[in-house]
Amino acid sequence: VPTTVEIIEAKRDGRELPEDEIRSIVLGFTAGKVPDYQMSAFLMAVYLKGMTTAETVSMTRAMVDSGETLDLSAIPGIKLDKHSTGGVGDKVSLAFVAILAAAGVPVAKMSGRGLGITGGTLDKLESISGFQVELSSQQIVDQVSSIGACICAQTKYIAPADKGIYALRDVTGTVESSSLVASSVMSKKIAGGADTILLDVKYGRGAFMKSYEAARTMALLMRDIGIAHGKQMVVEMSSMDIPLGRAVGNLIEVKEAADFLRNAETDARLKSLIYELAQKAILAVGNSSSAVDLVESGKAWSKFVEIVEAQGGDVRSIERWNDITPAAVVRCTQSGFVTDVDAEIIGRSSNLLGAGRAKKDDSVDHLAGIRIDSPVGQEVETGSILATLYGCTGSTVAQAMAMIESAFRVDNASRAEIRPQFEQVGDALS
Ligand code: URA
Repeated sequence: VPTTVEIIEAKRDGRELPEDEIRSIVLGFTAGKVPDYQMSAFLMAVYLKGMTTAETVSMTRAMVDSGETLDLSAIPGIKLDKHSTGGVGDKVSLAFVAILAAAGVPVAKMSGRGLGITGGTLDKLESISGFQVELSSQQIVDQVSSIGACICAQTKYIAPADKGIYALRDVTGTVESSSLVASSVMSKKIAGGADTILLDVKYGRGAFMKSYEAARTMALLMRDIGIAHGKQMVVEMSSMDIPLGRAVGNLIEVKEAADFLRNAETDARLKSLIYELAQKAILAVGNSSSAVDLVESGKAWSKFVEIVEAQGGDVRSIERWNDITPAAVVRCTQSGFVTDVDAEIIGRSSNLLGAGRAKKDDSVDHLAGIRIDSPVGQEVETGSILATLYGCTGSTVAQAMAMIESAFRVDNASRAEIRPQFEQVGDALS
């Protein structure tokens, strides 16, 4: 095997690297033998020259092998995991896991924290009093065996190479590389041990990938990596131009997902995406349950309660939401139809209110967030409430109000003029 410098030079010159060279640098880095500066140079070379699918598969395999793979073989059935590339108001996982588990499909769901303007399932779940996201491998296996699902953090043994590489990418301008993002996401999913992986790849203003084309390239790459590792892949693309559902934040999103599972009236787009992804996953593993029936019968809600309680959470604490006093409301200054709500601005405003992090180790305010009172398509009048703000007080509120107001567009247009992609839900890739 060539030296680390030779491997970096080969990538710098745009050569395709064989598997053993990629392994040598990734595993050398994890073992502390390849220093940060060499890994950083390698990552920049990858960023600038790209990687083929074969190289990206090798990179992913090396990252998986840098740690342990969760052994779910003791759990009968086809085990499922889900991943969304992140968005604003995306609380689909909370409902999805409950529906799948209620269908009898074992779900070992590993989730992450918020990143940039995209929220994280772990942050949302931690807004439920007592909820424990840190489970050991044995606890994961035990809980999925006994109640059919868990939603937890990756253990520290899952793809440790990714942790180190991600930290370097974050500070070396090498985050936005499709090979590096795809290997990062897929290494963690593959090491999570599930047989079937459902990916919801987001595109649009509120997503990590702004353009549909870039997101699609990434989606195909992630699918190929999964297939190369023997996984069944179900890949969906969905728009993140406008927030998903009416709630953006932490507890407020848990409340929206819980209300959906309790058959309360739910935002149409959110509801269809949950059903679409859940039904696809149910069918993919050869189960014949109806996602709609599982929700309407209350079985999915009962399963959600079981999962929360198994992880130490107090479901009643979700109702704290009813007692929270809003910080402010944003009102409409003209009449017409809401034709746009910019997800990126809403995401940034939610972070400003305290729901997200500016730096990795910041804490989040579980009660901060935004409710979209007048979503796209809604007819409004002067004085109608567009959005309600929760969380911080003082001058930040005024700043957030101005931002949120700028996220909305109200036109005298007819409903037909509303951009169709805002109302479109999923788009299957495979
Ligand atoms: N999420 C990840 O886990 N890794 C990336 O590189 C980007 C988003």
